[in-house]
Amino acid sequence: MTRREKTKEELIRELNQVKRKAAQLKQLESERRRVAEALHESETMFRKITERSVVGVYLIQDDVFRYVNPNMAAIFGYKVEELVDHRGPEDLVLDEDWPEVGENIRKRISGEMEAINYRFRGKKSTGEMIHIEVYGSRADYQGRPAVIGTILDITDRVESQHNIEMQLHRFQALYHIAMAMAAEHTLEENLALLVRSCRELLKTDVSLIAVSDVNLEKMLVYAQSGLRRKKLRDLPMDFLKRQGVGNTSDRPGDDAEVCFEQLKALAKKEFRNEGLLSGIAIPLRARKTAIGVLCVASRSNRDFPESERDVLCLMGNVAALEITRKQAEERLAQSENELRHLSAQLLRAQEDERKRLAQELHDGIGQSISAIKFRIESCMKQVRENSDQRTVAQLETLLPMVQNTVEEVQRIAVDLRPFIIDDLGLVATLRWFLRQFQNTYSNIRLDNRIGLEEEEVPEALKIVIFRIAQEALNNVAKHSRAKRVHVALRKRKDLIELLIKDNGVGIESDSSASPSNLGKGFGLSSMKERTELSGGMFRLDTGPGVGTSIRASWSLKTDPCYR
Ligand SMILES: Nc1ncnc2c1ncn2[C@@H]1O[C@H](COP(=O)(O)OP(=O)(O)OP(=O)(O)O)[C@@H](O)[C@H]1O
Ligand SMILES: [Mg+2]
Repeated sequence: MTRREKTKEELIRELNQVKRKAAQLKQLESERRRVAEALHESETMFRKITERSVVGVYLIQDDVFRYVNPNMAAIFGYKVEELVDHRGPEDLVLDEDWPEVGENIRKRISGEMEAINYRFRGKKSTGEMIHIEVYGSRADYQGRPAVIGTILDITDRVESQHNIEMQLHRFQALYHIAMAMAAEHTLEENLALLVRSCRELLKTDVSLIAVSDVNLEKMLVYAQSGLRRKKLRDLPMDFLKRQGVGNTSDRPGDDAEVCFEQLKALAKKEFRNEGLLSGIAIPLRARKTAIGVLCVASRSNRDFPESERDVLCLMGNVAALEITRKQAEERLAQSENELRHLSAQLLRAQEDERKRLAQELHDGIGQSISAIKFRIESCMKQVRENSDQRTVAQLETLLPMVQNTVEEVQRIAVDLRPFIIDDLGLVATLRWFLRQFQNTYSNIRLDNRIGLEEEEVPEALKIVIFRIAQEALNNVAKHSRAKRVHVALRKRKDLIELLIKDNGVGIESDSSASPSNLGKGFGLSSMKERTELSGGMFRLDTGPGVGTSIRASWSLKTDPCYR
């Protein structure tokens, strides 16, 4: 079959078709060029963004990095080319954290999880540990699954957070110790708390505090935490002797490791038995003299950074303060006790002396004057019979003088020691004394309520109660300008109570006897002293214009200690 010649029309149609196709191709080509340009542009942009980004950017496929930005490499201490196609994520993650990180990557590759945000600990080319926060998601790269993501080095943030938490713990520990010191705890309890806090704060196996004994022969372990043995034996004093004045640096923390080594060498056996290898120790100082040691130690070899040595120094200062404070308190309590003992002895001696004097006045001088009086009377009788009226008259003038002297001696003797207290007891003596008082001071109305039986008052309290009533009523007469005074001696439950209450001018607040100044005037302070030394409680209530009341009470449950 011969090819038919194409008609002109047909040729024109084909030409048009070819022209259309050419136009389409041209359009496609410009489209392709536009797409290529756009692609290039976005790749440049992506690179610009990632290359300058402060975060690390990565792409992982087949367990190797296919892309990392310079910052990603820098964070881990590598060059980009050392990572890309050469290293994988496992090389940059701390061994302990790899199982979790590896699992997270697997989940994204497998499509179980689209995106994830978490933290892990990374490892730099130098081996140094860093904290990383990662945001990773699944992606397709060259037609196959991959993981792309960004990372941030959050080491500084984590460390400062850790520091803040640590400071907070230290502050809390110090707060608890300060509270314990303010409370009524024993030295041992407070040091035990301090030692426990040191061990927790510095994360050591053991901590202990030792203080020299009074004879400066050895250091006694006052408190310890974490030791295998219940109590460590005493430590050698040589350690403290080495911490002499020349050895006091401004920053004792600087020598803390040296101190520990010294202590370890001196107490070799003890430290070996406990398996203590590393530690720090701070000598405790009171006025530049070493009085003890605070030590923390570990059964492994570890370093103690400056901040930890500072903590131990601070704790050491607190411990030294607490020890010296408690020792001073003990000394004070001891001298207070001695003083009380002396006062009691003094009052007892005074009472004995009064008794002796009264006895002598009564039995000695009193008896002789009575004898003189008797002789004068019999002389007078004889002279009268011989009717020597002049001599009688002279002798008669002597008689009242002698009588007065007898009475005066009796009064002084009774004042010194009312004998009837030994013979008739307190109740009778008090009633007699109150009668005397009322007779002498008739301008003051005395209201007297003695509401207990003689047998109810312990023997040792009788003279004490009488003396207090005597002092208090003397004061009422001397100072109060009162119109009324109320005296009560009563028994309430297991309590004996003496009350002397006047409605006078009261004690001026600037007077030496105001409650705050109690102890300066002899009368008031001796009343208080007698009450307290006999195991009682003394109370003075007064104020200008409201009168004065003195209340002394003794519990019958406890034996009066004043003899
Ligand atoms: N009942 C009272 N009313 C008013 N003032 C009083 C009363 N008791 C004491 N005072 C005041 O308190 C002061 C101290 O009293 P205190 O008994 O200690 O000493 P004194 O009476 O002055 O001397 P002493 O008792 O040694 O003889 C008195 O000087 C007086 O100013
Ligand atoms: Mg007085």
